[in-house]
Amino acid sequence: MAKPKPIRKGRPKKKSYKDSGWIYVVAPLFVLLGGIGMIGYITITKDSLSEKVNKEARQWAIRHWQTPIPLQGKPIREHQLLAQEISAQDCRKCHIEKYEEWSSSLHSRSIGPGVIGQYLVFNGREKSECNICHAPMTEQWEQTLGVDKEWNNNGNFNKVLFEEGITCAACHLRQHQRHGPPLKPGKEALSQALHGEPVRTPFFEASEFCQSCHQHHASTLKIGGKTVENTYNEWLESPAYEQGQTCQSCHMPDRRHFWKGIHDKEMTASGVTISQKVSSKTPEKGSSFDASLTLENTGTGHMFPTYTTPAVFLKAAFLNRQGEVIPQFYEEKIIQRRLNMDQNPWTEDFDTRLAPGQAVTLEFNRTVPSDAHQFKLWIWVEPDHFYEGFFRTSLKNDPNHKGLELLKKALQDTLDRQYSLFSKVWQVN
Ligand code: HEC
Ligand code: HEC
Ligand code: HEC
Ligand code: HEC
Ligand code: HEC
Repeated sequence: MAKPKPIRKGRPKKKSYKDSGWIYVVAPLFVLLGGIGMIGYITITKDSLSEKVNKEARQWAIRHWQTPIPLQGKPIREHQLLAQEISAQDCRKCHIEKYEEWSSSLHSRSIGPGVIGQYLVFNGREKSECNICHAPMTEQWEQTLGVDKEWNNNGNFNKVLFEEGITCAACHLRQHQRHGPPLKPGKEALSQALHGEPVRTPFFEASEFCQSCHQHHASTLKIGGKTVENTYNEWLESPAYEQGQTCQSCHMPDRRHFWKGIHDKEMTASGVTISQKVSSKTPEKGSSFDASLTLENTGTGHMFPTYTTPAVFLKAAFLNRQGEVIPQFYEEKIIQRRLNMDQNPWTEDFDTRLAPGQAVTLEFNRTVPSDAHQFKLWIWVEPDHFYEGFFRTSLKNDPNHKGLELLKKALQDTLDRQYSLFSKVWQVN
């Protein structure tokens, strides 16, 4: 198979900046070299969709999401002492509920073992390519690009803040000034004496706020006409967009900070409708038997699933007395956008994801075998399907990797996060 590669890239975005995905990696770098941060998000969207873009929100988001986010600098003197610090731990002193929600979210774990394990063998530039989304504040960058065009140690590096990943301040603080959404109707502005009133803008409620990290730029590698990360564009094309639902409507209902997605069974269930049919409720040994299992994307505001990393399996099988699948009596269908990263440029093996409103059906038709005990239909979700393979290959190819223990932990996490979305069993007669 592919020649052993040192572990480099944590996501199916690029193999190396020398490869086809180079524009993606290099473009932001050029901008960094120019010293003006990331400004490239103006032309993300293809022309047919561009009239749907909230241009004001986008312009604002480009400014808000210059990466790395410039240093916060000195605290504002008028702010209460307690409110002068910038880590999530500090926000927690007063925003306990938001803190608890955020802590349980993947945003708070964006610097997890899978990322750190790789950082051990990355240089400053390589880390910066990931930090743009995983830890975007200058205080979170161990090395920054100096005027001498070298990656130097950053005197303002804050390890606690780095480990918080996508922390409160990354979204809400610019030079210590709070930024946030308009005041909730009926709510009073109460932070004046503590850290001043936030700059309130409706753009916190726009999908363009999230797009900076959840949509690749149009100039990056396109496979089958789609960028590798394409969530914002998928949303523009969805009925959810037409109905005025934003990323926040579904992922931050009532402004809560859980950001649940495919890693959460209930959230996933809320986005789909599952139905099944069997020709008989008590399959008879030796007689013929039909079943079908259908999954429809009825409530996901983008492709189901949106990324190239998860895989969802529809499965049907006869089980023996031990509860094991009888191999010749098993069918499955996979829902996934699978990329082939051994090719240069990357290619797409298949894309069976479901657009909003689209359904897939698994058909099963067999003569009931004599060793059958039960018939089962189920749906199995592997939210980190790609990463599981990636970490396995990495461990195999580089058993002396500096981040070995972390990568083992990361692999275990991908397994622990798998779940059954649906399952139903019939007894065989
Ligand atoms: C000393 C207490 C205190 C600390 C520390 C604090 N805040 Fe606040 N903050 C408040 C209070 C009180 C309000 C107004 C009531 C509310 O919305 O919870 C507020 C409001 C806000 C709002 C606007 C909400 C609204 O619509 O009124 C944002 C955004 C915010 N804080 C962000 C932060 C962040 C980020 C941190 C940490 C870097 C932080 N705060 C630290 C007390 C604090
Ligand atoms: C600074 C970059 C950044 C911004 C801004 C951002 N995200 Fe994320 N988001 C990430 C990263 C990185 C992860 C993955 C974290 C991990 O698992 O390591 C993530 C994970 C998620 C997930 C979890 C998905 C799952 O697999 O279950 C959801 C949902 C999500 N983000 C929604 C949003 C929404 C909605 C917004 C806008 C309000 C937003 N994000 C803004 C970078 C960002
Ligand atoms: C454009 C924003 C973006 C960039 C740049 C980016 N990521 Fe991510 N990353 C995400 C999002 C969003 C997710 C969650 C969705 C997913 O799993 O694909 C994620 C998930 C991951 C995960 C799986 C979750 C976890 O924490 O274990 C790993 C590992 C990862 N990224 C590593 C990297 C590495 C290494 C780089 C740099 C080479 C990088 N990423 C660059 C946005 C980004
Ligand atoms: C990924 C970006 C992101 C992160 C990280 C984040 N927030 Fe928010 N926050 C938002 C957005 C977006 C909104 C507005 C959501 C809306 O209006 O639908 C918001 C709203 C708020 C509000 C106003 C809530 C209200 O009821 O009016 C407060 C307070 C707040 N955040 C505090 C925090 C604190 C404290 C943390 C860390 C523990 C944090 N946020 C982390 C994006 C973020
Ligand atoms: C109509 C509701 C809805 C809207 C709007 C919506 N989502 Fe989702 N999203 C879901 C549901 C349900 C899931 C879980 C099923 C899935 O993974 O597709 C999900 C999953 C995700 C995931 C998990 C990863 C994956 O591969 O699916 C991410 C990341 C995400 N959404 C980001 C976004 C962003 C960014 C936006 C805005 C551009 C957005 N979502 C708009 C409902 C929505």
